[in-house]
Amino acid sequence: MKKLFKFLGALVAVVVLAVAGFAMFVQARGIPSYELPKAPAAPTLAATPERVALGEKIVLATCADCHRNPETNTLSGQKLRDLTPDFGAVYSANITRDPQHGIGAWTDAELTTLLRTGIGRDGRYRVIMPSFALMSDEDVQSVIAFLRSDNALTQPNPTPSHGQEPSFLLKALSNTVMKPTPLPTAAVVAPAPTDALGYGRYLVVGRYKCYECHSKDFKSNNPLEPEKSEGYLGGGNKLLNLQGQEVVSRNLTSDAETGLGDWTEAQFAQAIKFGMSPHGPLNYPMPKYSQLTDEEVKALFAYLQSVPKLRNATPEDKGTIAAR
Ligand code: HEC
Ligand code: HEC
Repeated sequence: MKKLFKFLGALVAVVVLAVAGFAMFVQARGIPSYELPKAPAAPTLAATPERVALGEKIVLATCADCHRNPETNTLSGQKLRDLTPDFGAVYSANITRDPQHGIGAWTDAELTTLLRTGIGRDGRYRVIMPSFALMSDEDVQSVIAFLRSDNALTQPNPTPSHGQEPSFLLKALSNTVMKPTPLPTAAVVAPAPTDALGYGRYLVVGRYKCYECHSKDFKSNNPLEPEKSEGYLGGGNKLLNLQGQEVVSRNLTSDAETGLGDWTEAQFAQAIKFGMSPHGPLNYPMPKYSQLTDEEVKALFAYLQSVPKLRNATPEDKGTIAAR
């Protein structure tokens, strides 16, 4: 018996030491850096007016809510308001054309690497910046063409990017489960809009990344195989609104009671373009996708109605079944 206690005592001591050691390692290492991946020459597509316009549309829908600073009204970066404090204080970077404080001096290949993998030109992992691993080359190049264009949002702004204040949890996650994504090894091409389901999936996982907010938790999302994210599109991810109150993302699967199974396409279009859901006005951080084409709305709706149903009630379901 004594021996057993001794053994257990030693075991506990080893575990405590290992945990303390890991904690010290994480605390000292912080957010890790990586060797820059050897980028195959980024496909350099000409910055045609069509690409700049497409880039503008994507940036307004997908990047501006995080990167636009309301005071400068440029993409000069700000504190992320919708992240719960368990991640610490995280600030988006200045991505205006300023050569010193923005991305004016970054090459196309450096920007592509950052968007695809999360690794900055200095090697530091931009852990909260979403990985656009599945965005098409065409869309990535269009985004870059827009960032380099002469738009009010991209005007060089000399505000330095704010340093990050990650929580211990975020440091621990970025040393364990949250990792850069690899550069694609082949061309990334979006399905044609005539393939509504394929195109709709692309919009959800590649271009607008609806699934990131609308699956169970940022911590269990899978950027390379989004369908393997926990609770894929079933909602329940906890975010904050502009007043710092909790807002829970909603179930977008086709479950009739807790999801969108009983919605019409017209109701869906009102909700995502103008923030008017049959449940009432939608709060930040749900973006307003006001520039979506009818083709995109149709494809998004068709795809969402096709993903495996999850029954997951979120606060607007109020235990009763959706007033409408
Ligand atoms: C969820 C919020 C969020 C979204 C959406 C987002 N970003 Fe970021 N981005 C960040 C954060 C936070 C950082 C800084 C991370 C760091 O320093 O660790 C960052 C960093 C960057 C950087 C690196 C700049 C530097 O100097 O380090 C670039 C470039 C960038 N983002 C471009 C984009 C583009 C283009 C989009 C849209 C396609 C986008 N981001 C969408 C949050 C976001
Ligand atoms: C930055 C996170 C975020 C992103 C990205 C996002 N959503 Fe949302 N969405 C939310 C939140 C949070 C709510 C709930 C808002 C509320 O409670 O007022 C919501 C609500 C909705 C609703 C209303 C559902 C209901 O039952 O009333 C629909 C529909 C929706 N989102 C669709 C989408 C689609 C489609 C995309 C991608 C094109 C998308 N969302 C991208 C966060 C996000």
